[in-house]
Amino acid sequence: MKSYNIAVIPGDGTGPEVIRESVKVLEAASKRYGFNLDLHYYDFGGDRYLRTGEVLPDSAIDELRGHDAILLGAIGHPQVKPGILEKGILLRLRFELDQYINLRPVKLYPGVDCPLKDKGPEDIDFVVVRENTEGLYVGGGAFLRKGTPHEVAVQESVNTRYGVERCIRFAFEYCRKRNREKKLTLCGKTNVLTFAWDLWQRAFDEVKEEYPDIETDYAHVDAITMWFVKNPEWFDVIVTDNMFGDIITDLGAMIQGGMGIAAGGNINPEGVSMFEPIGGSAPKYTGKNVINPLAAICAGGMMLEHLGQEEAGRCIERSVMEVTGKHLKSLAAGKMGYTTTEVGDLVADYVSRL
Ligand code: IPM
Ligand code: MN
Repeated sequence: MKSYNIAVIPGDGTGPEVIRESVKVLEAASKRYGFNLDLHYYDFGGDRYLRTGEVLPDSAIDELRGHDAILLGAIGHPQVKPGILEKGILLRLRFELDQYINLRPVKLYPGVDCPLKDKGPEDIDFVVVRENTEGLYVGGGAFLRKGTPHEVAVQESVNTRYGVERCIRFAFEYCRKRNREKKLTLCGKTNVLTFAWDLWQRAFDEVKEEYPDIETDYAHVDAITMWFVKNPEWFDVIVTDNMFGDIITDLGAMIQGGMGIAAGGNINPEGVSMFEPIGGSAPKYTGKNVINPLAAICAGGMMLEHLGQEEAGRCIERSVMEVTGKHLKSLAAGKMGYTTTEVGDLVADYVSRL
């Protein structure tokens, strides 16, 4: 029987609650589709940091490298200064494991309330391919005359031809494999950021020659936020840089029904990838059994697809669609009409028999 070594980092706040349901569903899928999941739990997060002063031990990176994939709950603790855990765990893992793609499907499932007037599941189904290791996220920059009235703060955006090209190439391949509208939109800011986006545009134009079957398009990042609201049906696959991708995928999450459902993958196609619900640790709902676990469940489904268990991954997605379409009153924490555990049970039950 095929077996996978999975590192599980439940993390902070409601992370452990949603991961429990995700694991429940993954186990139902593994039984049904005949593979084995060997789960190894890691306690990285705010509690461990407050207890030991350690964010992520160096040995952890190497240990995680030995796994087939990582499933992450949530990072962020109310007693820890913002940035320490996010940078020390989430961003460090993305960088050190060279997870150079952040893959964010934006899909409106049946029965889900959409804030856009007159838009339904047939209109909202696209994927954002966000570069995940460069741009403004590299942490380059400096202060000059810090704390004085003449202070200068420089924050650098690093765009390498290598990093940009591999991201664009991934997006074309992904678009081809997805085989839907076969349309790839480059989202940038070529009219103002004329160094970074010149490089992106040139790389995009060169790579597209290799993909005559893919229609290409360009949108400025400010304009794309408008189109997400007005004409989301225009998009199939979008490729963009780290910062723009961060911003537009939060808007994407809202038009697909909110953080309760939005999942993402940090992908290294040649290495170890990490899957996560993109909502935060939601401290105020912690321990109440009211948080929506569907985003974590969807992240688990994406992980299975990535591992080559496509059928099992698709079955999880179809099961989630049954649950949103036929059961949940809302996706919001405390308003679902079911507890966190019950939502996990519902999905797992569909996975076992759908
Ligand atoms: C995301 C998050 C992270 C990011 C934060 C928590 C560092 O917002 O995954 O989109 O900015 O990438
Ligand atoms: Mn974000």
